[in-house]
Amino acid sequence: MSETLFLTATTKAARYAELLPQIVALTETEPDLTANLANTAAALRQAFGFFWVGFYVVKGAENAQELVLGPFQGPIACTRIRRGRGVCGTAWAEAQTQLVPDVELFPGHIACSAASKSEIVVPVLKNGTVVAVLDVDSDQLNDFDTDDQIALETLMQRVAAWF
Ligand code: SME
Repeated sequence: MSETLFLTATTKAARYAELLPQIVALTETEPDLTANLANTAAALRQAFGFFWVGFYVVKGAENAQELVLGPFQGPIACTRIRRGRGVCGTAWAEAQTQLVPDVELFPGHIACSAASKSEIVVPVLKNGTVVAVLDVDSDQLNDFDTDDQIALETLMQRVAAWF
């Protein structure tokens, strides 16, 4: 497909519905993981103007695994996160999406940027194991809801196939 996104929908759910097939088209013939994660982060940023959107990938030897910063769009960010730490590490440890309306109220939240106010982190599950997480941050409070959760969880099922 051409490297242009076509986005006309005005509601968030409809915009996700427009965007997801375009991400599939953009990535389905490309075998490189980094390229596909990078374009996925860029497409999400372009479609919604998120403050920060990107991937952390589980890396390291079996007993020393960490989340390591992967392709992202936005300001520079922390590079390594341990299991159970912060919102990302919690999504990894629990293998469940974390929807955080106010990051100040999330115990142990890791503030990569003081401008980040709300956050959603969605795990990428491969055969029941978390292999990465998608982290999306907003500079507005309470900016994510179940529309984001449903669409991003659907997208991460697709992303899992790249690992
Ligand atoms: N806030 C995240 C850390 C990653 S940055 O927001 C990009 C957390 O608490 O895990």
